[in-house]
Amino acid sequence: MTIATTPALDWQVTRNLAARSPQERDAILANPGFGQHFTDHTVDVCWSVGGGWHRPRVQPYGPISLDPSAAVLHYGQEIFEGLKAYRHADGSIWTFRPEANAARMQRSARRLALPELPVEYFIDALEQLIAIDGEWVPSEPETSLYLRPFMFAKEAFLGVRPANKVAFYLIASPAGPYFSGGVAPVSIWLSTNYARAGKGGTGAAKTGGNYASSLLPQAEAAENGCQQVLFLSEDTYLEELGGMNVVLVYRDGTLVTPDSDSILEGITRDSILQLARDRGHRVEQRRVTIDEWREGAASGDITEVFACGTAAVVTPIGQLKAADFTIGSPDAVAGEVTMSLREELTDIQYGRVEDRHGWLHRLDN
Ligand code: PLP
Ligand code: COI
Repeated sequence: MTIATTPALDWQVTRNLAARSPQERDAILANPGFGQHFTDHTVDVCWSVGGGWHRPRVQPYGPISLDPSAAVLHYGQEIFEGLKAYRHADGSIWTFRPEANAARMQRSARRLALPELPVEYFIDALEQLIAIDGEWVPSEPETSLYLRPFMFAKEAFLGVRPANKVAFYLIASPAGPYFSGGVAPVSIWLSTNYARAGKGGTGAAKTGGNYASSLLPQAEAAENGCQQVLFLSEDTYLEELGGMNVVLVYRDGTLVTPDSDSILEGITRDSILQLARDRGHRVEQRRVTIDEWREGAASGDITEVFACGTAAVVTPIGQLKAADFTIGSPDAVAGEVTMSLREELTDIQYGRVEDRHGWLHRLDN
C-alpha cells in the first residue's frame, strides 16, 4: 500500500544584500504601527496546471513583476490570510493556530477557483520566513510580526476563466496595535447603503474584492467619526465589521455572535468563544438582528460588545452610530468580560499562561 504524501519543498534561498542594519530595524520595531514596514525577505511558490507547486524561493523583499494582462489585475482572482508571530519571554517565536489559517486559505481558494496550497507548505513558508527574518519579531508588549500569505492569478490572459498560473507569496510586517487608540473602545458605523457580501457570494472567503467593496462604506464611517463599519444582511441581521467579527455579551454572561454563510469565520472569534465556554459562559452562534442589539442595550440585557480579529485582537465597541440612532457612547469604558477574554487570549499567544488547547506552533528552531 502506498500512502500519498506531499513532497517536501526544496527552497532556493537568496539573501537580501541590502537588508536593513540592526539599528535601522530596531528603530522600526520601536514604533511599528500597522502594515507600514516590511521585513527584508519574501517567500514564494509558483503553481501551474501542468507543474503543480514548484520553484519555492526565499528572496529579497521587492516589487513583483507582472504582465499587464495578468488575470488578478482584471478579475481580482486573489485570496489572502493574516496571522501573527509572537516573541515569548525566552526569545522563542511562536504563531497561533496556523493550521486553521491554512485550512481557511484552502476554503478561500476553492471559492475563488485557485489551487489549494497544502497545509504543510503553508507552515513551511512561515518557518522559512522566520528562519531568515526572525529578528523582525518585536519583543515589546502587545507587538508582533503580522504574517500575510496571499495567492493570485498571474497568467497573462484576458479570458474570464480560472488562471492556469498562480503565485503564492508570504510577506511580513512588524505590528503594534491596529487602532491608533490602542485597546480603547472604538466607535463603529452602521452601513445601511452598502452590503459587504450577498447570499452565495464570496463573503466567507478572504479575498481582496470583499475589502475593496468595504472601502467606500469605511470612508463613510470615518466621515461619521467611526473607526470601523458594521454590515447587515437583508437590512436586518448583523454580519461583521470591515475587517473583524462581532460578539455581544449579555448580562447573564451569554456570548452571542452572528451565524452567517457570508462572513469570514474568524479564528480569533472561534478561540475567544472556546475560552468563554471553558469558563462556563453560554455561547450562541445564531442570527442576531440590529433591533435585538438596540433593545438589549436599552434594557441593559446587552452589557458589552466587542470586535475581534487577528489585527484587532479583541477591541471593545463603545458606540454604534447609525444615520438615525446611536447605541452607547464614545466615552464608554471597556467591558470586564471583553478585557478579561482579551487578556487570556494574549496571555496564551505570548506564552504567559499554559496553552491548554495546543494552539501554539513554534516557528524558530
Ligand atoms: N472578518 C473579516 C472581514 C476579517 O478581515 C477578519 C480578519 O482576518 C476577521 C473577520 C477575523 O478573522 P481572524 O480572527 O481569523 O483574523
Ligand atoms: C486581519 O485581522 O488579519 C485582517 O486581515 C484584517 C485587516 C483589517 C488587517
